[in-house]
Formats: sequence, structure tokens, C-alpha cells
Amino acid sequence: MAVQKATNIHWHEGNFTRAERWKALNSVGCTMWFTGLSASGKSTIASALEQSLVNAGINCYRLDGDNIRFGLNKNLGFSADDRAENIRRIGEVAKLFADSGCVALTSFISPYRKDRDLCRELHEKDKTGAMVFIEVFVDTPIDVCEQRDPKGLYKKARAGELKGFTGIDDPYEAPANPELVLKPATMSVDQCVAACMELLKAKGVLKG
Ligand code: ADX
Repeated sequence: MAVQKATNIHWHEGNFTRAERWKALNSVGCTMWFTGLSASGKSTIASALEQSLVNAGINCYRLDGDNIRFGLNKNLGFSADDRAENIRRIGEVAKLFADSGCVALTSFISPYRKDRDLCRELHEKDKTGAMVFIEVFVDTPIDVCEQRDPKGLYKKARAGELKGFTGIDDPYEAPANPELVLKPATMSVDQCVAACMELLKAKGVLKG
């Protein structure tokens, strides 16, 4: 848990509320949080969903685990503490996107339940009102992920050349109560995207 280090700082309210912003922009912000093993299909689904949403005129933005580690989180590795900080920062960034009226799509392994729960709490306990947080479990069995192995990382981990790899010698804690479970081993990408779109409609993020 990150502690507040700076003192003598004061929150500065803007000139209008989030609800007023969203109304003026005709948008509803939210965070859709994809969690699952490496090579489970998180990024593929999030990218396809992003395309569908943008085609439908929805302002959305994808935050991808590998990509973010080239920039904002380049100083973090894969220890439990670094993963926690990785996820905390993304939870905060996604919340800013959602606050702005954007649909934030995050695809991170995010293996620890407490780290993901913290992100949910950030959204749901915001003092200016709750924001929709949707946890999506991309539930692909490890043997399928390992067969796919697009980056050759499972192979390296099995050979002992990569230590602390999620699912091999590092834990993955599956969500207990996700809003949505996708099973890419038996569902097409289109079916996964359709399930996400349906849920976004049910949550009032998408209209019609
Ligand atoms: S997380 O655990 O902190 O959420 P994140 O999603 O940002 O991970 O990054 C995961 C990606 O980093 C994987 O898809 C893989 O490409 C790469 N990676 C490199 N080392 C590891 C490791 N030890 N465990 C898991 N993924 C790793």
C-alpha cells in the first residue's frame, strides 16, 4: 500500500462536476479491467474491443501491460512489490481516464487479488461518486497459454531461464467475483468482444 509522502498539499476542485462533464461530452467513463495469464488473450480482446468501441464513436483507450512497462512503469520488474506498484499506478491512471469520460481498457496479468481489489476500491469509493469498474477474467487454461507461447516466455520459464514467471513459479490468483468471465479457448475473439459490449450496455456505458 502506497503511503502519502507529500505534505502541505491541497486538493483543488475544478469548476464543474464529473456528471456535468460527462453530460456535456455525451459520454460515460468506466474502467474495464482484463486480468489473466500471459498469452491468455487479454491484449487481443482488448484491442478488438477498442476497435469496436471507437467505430461506435466511443472514446476509449487501452492500457497494455507490456506497453506501459516501456514508459510509465519502466522502473518496475516482476517482484510482488513491483507488480503491486505496477497495478496501483495503472488503477490510478485508468481512474483518471474514466473520470475524463473515457472507457479505459486495461490488460495486465494483475496476478494478486488484493492489488486488483485496490483498483476497484479506487473507482468505487471515489469521493465525487462511484465510477463503474468492470473486472473481466480472461480464463484461459495454462496449458493453452503455454501451447500458444507467442513470446517464447513459457519455454524460457520451463527451462529455468526466466524466474518468477506467472503460472510457472509465481502465483496467479483468479478473481472470486468478476463481472465477466471470457474463455478464449472456446470462444472466438468476436464472441468475447460481443460479451464485453453487451455488459457495457447493461452498465449504461454504451447506449442503445
Ligand atoms: S503484472 O503481473 O505486473 O500485471 P504485466 O501485465 O504488467 O504483469 O506484464 C506482463 C508481461 O510481461 C507478460 O505478458 C510477459 O510478456 C512479460 N513478462 C516478463 N517477465 C514476466 C514474468 N516474470 N511474469 C509474467 N510476465 C512477464
